[in-house]
Amino acid sequence: MIISSFQVAILSLFLVLPAVAADYAMQPTKDDLKWLLPKKPPAPAENQPTPARVELGKALFFDPRLSSAGNLSCASCHSPMFGWSDGLATAKGSMGKTLGRASPTITNTAYNTFQLWDGRKKSLEDQAMGPMESMDEMAMDLGVLFKWLDAEPTYKNMFTKAYPGEAIDSKTVAKSLASFQRTVISNTSPFDRWVQGDGKAMTKREVLGFRLFSDPNKGNCVACHQAPNFTDGGFHNIGLAAYGKPDPDMGRFAIKPVASMKGAFKTPTLRDIALTAPYFHDGSARTLAEAVNHYNQGGATKADLSANIKPLNLSADEADAIVAFMRTLTSPSKAFVLPKLPAS
Ligand code: HEC
Ligand code: HEC
Repeated sequence: MIISSFQVAILSLFLVLPAVAADYAMQPTKDDLKWLLPKKPPAPAENQPTPARVELGKALFFDPRLSSAGNLSCASCHSPMFGWSDGLATAKGSMGKTLGRASPTITNTAYNTFQLWDGRKKSLEDQAMGPMESMDEMAMDLGVLFKWLDAEPTYKNMFTKAYPGEAIDSKTVAKSLASFQRTVISNTSPFDRWVQGDGKAMTKREVLGFRLFSDPNKGNCVACHQAPNFTDGGFHNIGLAAYGKPDPDMGRFAIKPVASMKGAFKTPTLRDIALTAPYFHDGSARTLAEAVNHYNQGGATKADLSANIKPLNLSADEADAIVAFMRTLTSPSKAFVLPKLPAS
């Protein structure tokens, strides 16, 4: 059979139709610049970062002697080897006890308006002492900790340099940990380079994924994963299967008992997301494809579901393009130098 050029034209029209129909800009536009993170993350006036504060916080973050059994540091659950999380579905705490929620990454927490899945803490300073005090996590006697830090000459010296005239207590320990965490920022991912005008930093397929992610009639992910840090700082029930079981984790509702907060959790950043599987607060999605599939089906549990979660009717190809886009949010890996901990 001979196919006429007219038939070829008709045929190719059908082949390219899906991409053309949506009519997406495939090159970065001015509006896309809204996704760039501010270069310097905000820090409270009374705790502006200095090299001495960051260095002290970094040592404390990696020091297992901040836990009663000497076996857990902050980095046990927020490790640079796992995108500053732990690679587990839910965290493992003191004595190997499995905890109820996943360890979120600490990448870009500097930009958060709320900390923790249920937002029960606001600043990094507010959050920092929690894991040490929690019997399920580091289970530390803080009185013992402050005495030890004060008697340890290297730490004592570091505190004096970082916070001259201030005591070694929960305020200065928290402030230094916060200062270090404010340095853990995602950097120049292919997506960031594309947004800044490098049209070659992303493939067509990845750009299509970004446009589907942003399209209110397609993925509608931007309803919650907003610019610049892929979060609206809000809380939503996205219909995870576990919420349909008896006695579910009520999330934000336990902190703020209004109906819309039932089973609602904080929208996490998606930057460096390829590094932090498994996903969701209960670790129920093993891969990014599973996470997108969850949204495509409109969630598994319909009770108290956010109005923005509904079946999306994305084709397998479209779902896959969204996954490809999310992978472009990964920072190029850069060497991380572990701190030398004071010896005694
Ligand atoms: C046993 C594992 C474990 C240890 C140790 C641990 N964390 Fe976490 N971290 C978690 C879990 C789990 C959550 C989420 C808890 C929740 O939302 O209820 C969390 C949440 C956080 C958050 C909030 C992030 C966000 O986006 O909301 C920050 C910041 C944080 N941890 C910092 C620290 C610091 C600092 C230390 C050390 C003092 C520490 N963590 C020790 C498991 C751990
Ligand atoms: C209604 C708001 C909302 C919409 C719409 C939404 N998300 Fe989410 N997203 C959230 C919240 C809230 C969580 C955390 C939920 C939880 O763990 O209980 C989350 C978690 C995730 C996670 C896991 C992050 C992690 O660190 O574990 C991924 C991946 C994700 N969303 C991608 C998407 C994609 C892709 C879309 C669009 C197809 C989308 N989201 C649409 C609010 C939303």
